Amino acid sequence: MEKAIYTIVDLRDWGAATAGCEPPLRLAVIGDPVAHSKSPQMHNAALSALGIPVRYTRLHILAGEVRECLALLPKAGFIGINCTIPHKAEVLAGVAQADVIAKRAGGVNTVRVEQDGTLTGTSTDGPGFARAVREEFGAELSDLRVMVLGAGGGAGRAIAMQCASAGCPSLMLVNRSLEKLEPLLDEIAAFYQQERIAAGDFAEVFLRAGLRTSDLVVNCTSLGMKAGDASPIAATHIEDRHLIYDTIYVAHRTPLLRAGDEAGARGANGLSMLLHQGVLSFERWFGLTPPVDVMRAVLAAPGAHLSF
Ligand SMILES: NC(=O)c1ccc[n+]([C@@H]2O[C@H](COP(=O)([O-])OP(=O)(O)OC[C@H]3O[C@@H](n4cnc5c(N)ncnc54)[C@H](OP(=O)(O)O)[C@@H]3O)[C@@H](O)[C@H]2O)c1
Repeated sequence: MEKAIYTIVDLRDWGAATAGCEPPLRLAVIGDPVAHSKSPQMHNAALSALGIPVRYTRLHILAGEVRECLALLPKAGFIGINCTIPHKAEVLAGVAQADVIAKRAGGVNTVRVEQDGTLTGTSTDGPGFARAVREEFGAELSDLRVMVLGAGGGAGRAIAMQCASAGCPSLMLVNRSLEKLEPLLDEIAAFYQQERIAAGDFAEVFLRAGLRTSDLVVNCTSLGMKAGDASPIAATHIEDRHLIYDTIYVAHRTPLLRAGDEAGARGANGLSMLLHQGVLSFERWFGLTPPVDVMRAVLAAPGAHLSF
């Protein structure tokens, strides 16, 4: 019988661990924790809609097990995996080849097992975000001056790199711990004009000045995930012309989105990014576009909440 979560012990003898599972389990999300990931539901809905005889599952992989997990995937017959917290950077180091998007993002979220058994990796977080902005606001990153809140974290870095790669007219990077922006700033400087970047913490004066010269504000901090969290920026700082994208995907309107609503600004939550990073992973594995609306309906179903 199919289990909800498998482990490295199962992966060592995948045939025995998944005997009787039909269709066979040949895709998974690896992470720690991984129990609440909605990726299996999203991908399994797409696989069955397209009649692809494969299922997607969860692998609870602990720190120290990532290299072994990657080495076992070809023999276990995997097509690929998604990687979530905290393994993206280790998977980047562990795949045979990673593309420039993954290198810039500092992590891999999508691995494909190639015909010869080698593993290649990319990150669909940044490109998924770009698609989400297009879908939500009808706008291209190349036309938007962007402020990234929480740019020092994993999602923030992937999004900041995507914005810089797209050539956004200006990029304002905000992080509580300023030192965490330093490696990101060094890497962005390699391909993006330095005079278009500003970096700072949540000091009021910096935020106010930054918001005056930004069009799109993206929350990549975890502020808003817990009930009672404050908004990372106050409604009084937001103008109605701002576009607000909160990468957090929870059932309720996040504090930042409520602040944006109060100011009359357009806002969207992270569901569309979660969806499109998944769509892009699917495209990477199968070379075809999955049914996006089927995947979206699964994520939007009651009870679905943040998980990757
Ligand atoms: N929709 C999607 O597909 C998607 C995908 C990935 C992530 N996300 C969202 O992105 C967010 C970050 O995830 P992550 O993986 O990047 O986590 P992470 O690497 O742990 O980064 C967390 C970020 O939040 C900041 N932060 C935490 N508490 C804060 C506070 N009280 N005030 C100000 N900043 C604070 C951290 O700042 P310091 O560096 O100062 O600690 C850091 O920049 C999460 O809310 C997650 O829901 C969404």
